[in-house]
Amino acid sequence: MTESDERLHAPAAARNGEAILQVLKAMHQPGLRYLEIASGPGQHAALFAEAMPDIFWQPSDPDPRMRASQLAWARGLDNMSAPLELDVLKPQWWEPVENRVDVMLCVNMIHCAPKEAIEGLLAGAGRLLEPGSALLLYGPFTFNGMHSVDSNKNFDRMLRQQNAEWGVRDLNDIADAGQKHGMVYERYVEMPSNNHILVLRRQGALQEDTLI
Ligand SMILES: C[S@@+](CC[C@H](N)C(=O)[O-])C[C@H]1O[C@@H](n2cnc3c(N)ncnc32)[C@H](O)[C@@H]1O
Repeated sequence: MTESDERLHAPAAARNGEAILQVLKAMHQPGLRYLEIASGPGQHAALFAEAMPDIFWQPSDPDPRMRASQLAWARGLDNMSAPLELDVLKPQWWEPVENRVDVMLCVNMIHCAPKEAIEGLLAGAGRLLEPGSALLLYGPFTFNGMHSVDSNKNFDRMLRQQNAEWGVRDLNDIADAGQKHGMVYERYVEMPSNNHILVLRRQGALQEDTLI
């Protein structure tokens, strides 16, 4: 992480931001309200808010240093809100979210947090999203317990050495947690460097005008 003024810069966010933006643009509808969980430095939030001026971006993070950086990245962007303090491991973590949420995005968080973060995230998505709306979950994942490439396996080993509670998560565990909270796994989008975006959709009657 490097620093210029109060804005922190994450090299990974610089690498994957454009590819994620293309996925968001393909789902774009004017007026969508995004809630981003674990926005980190806020670099993605600013990129997406600037590229799609007709959407609203709500960043968040439990870490005050990250929220200070998000505030700095939001300067001059009318459609990027001040960050919320949200930690998906806390009970009822979604309560501070007051505005409507049309889409949730979470990039590279669940492998850098205890496994319980999966269920916490899905529980909040089930409460905050309307039927038909989606949670987009970006990261490296295993499929039926298998890494798609050796580099992800090495990354997983490195994460677990860094923190015994961290590690690359499996699609089945995410889909199972989603089922408990009304969030149904729908599909994945392949992303560069063996990452994926998982799409989980809030169960219930689909409304064409909110379907992304
Ligand atoms: C690897 S960084 C990714 C940041 C950003 N999404 C990006 O891609 O640049 C992981 C982020 O997850 C946040 N995080 C860790 N545990 C969390 C939790 N329980 N709830 C919400 N965010 C969490 C950290 O504070 C950190 O900002």
